Amino acid sequence: MSGQLNNKVAVITGGARGLGAAYAMAFSKEGAKVCISDVLDTSKKVKEITENGGDVIGLPCDVTDLSSCHSMVEKVADRFGGIDILVNNAAMFVDLPRRTFLDIGSEEWNNVMAVNVRGSFNCSKAIVPELRRRGGGSIINISSSTALKGIPYTLHYVTSKGAIMAMTRALARELGDDNIRVNSLAPGLTMSEAVAAADNTFAPYNEASLRGRALKREQVPKDLIGAAIFLASDGSSFMTGQTLVVDGGDVTN
Ligand SMILES: NC(=O)c1ccc[n+]([C@@H]2O[C@H](COP(=O)([O-])OP(=O)(O)OC[C@H]3O[C@@H](n4cnc5c(N)ncnc54)[C@H](O)[C@@H]3O)[C@@H](O)[C@H]2O)c1
Repeated sequence: MSGQLNNKVAVITGGARGLGAAYAMAFSKEGAKVCISDVLDTSKKVKEITENGGDVIGLPCDVTDLSSCHSMVEKVADRFGGIDILVNNAAMFVDLPRRTFLDIGSEEWNNVMAVNVRGSFNCSKAIVPELRRRGGGSIINISSSTALKGIPYTLHYVTSKGAIMAMTRALARELGDDNIRVNSLAPGLTMSEAVAAADNTFAPYNEASLRGRALKREQVPKDLIGAAIFLASDGSSFMTGQTLVVDGGDVTN
């Protein structure tokens, strides 16, 4: 099989479903060996990717727990001989109640920050020694266009995705000498499985996104694949610290 990610090994957190699973399938089709990790059962997606001819493992990993991240990284390196790519995709998002910031409690705030911000910090920490052993690599942090648009009623989520953009810039500076690139991908509202299933919650946001976009249609997981492969591959080898917004031209800053 020849592809843009031949001989690469990729770890995708939160890969049991949705956009993470879509990146995993796409990376596998481009020749990468893939690990999907999640707090959810990954076996269904592992089966799908395997049946498609991919070399994939599914591992349990709670990104809020640094030792869980270390254990996952160790298993991937044992199985595939190293790691080249990390997609920090795991996040609390779909199930978060929409409410004003005055009604968000400290515990809910902390939980979102723990998964969405500390999770990316933990996984990057656990994986960087492996990337260094390979002489470089690519970290892709999944942000969101909500952080650029300032979407109301999930202040913790939007703040966490803004933090991801800042983390991306600063970590890129720390890892440049190791030839490790750190970029962020910021999708607009995308019809992942969980978003589509929560139509009551997302319908108004979807309508607003459709109105705001230059390209006036729903965004689907496939729309993110080209950008994700680009950031993972040598095609973006002189690009680091950047946020790539893929949202049909809604964010116009
Ligand atoms: N779908 C969208 O509209 C959209 C837009 C912008 C950004 N994003 C971002 O894209 C990513 C994926 O979104 P999605 O729509 O596929 O949502 P999703 O909820 O289907 O995917 C998130 C995954 O993260 C996993 N996860 C949650 N907590 C975890 C933990 N502690 N440890 C490990 N895994 C954990 C979940 O189990 C789930 O599989 C998220 O980072 C989200 O913020 C999504």
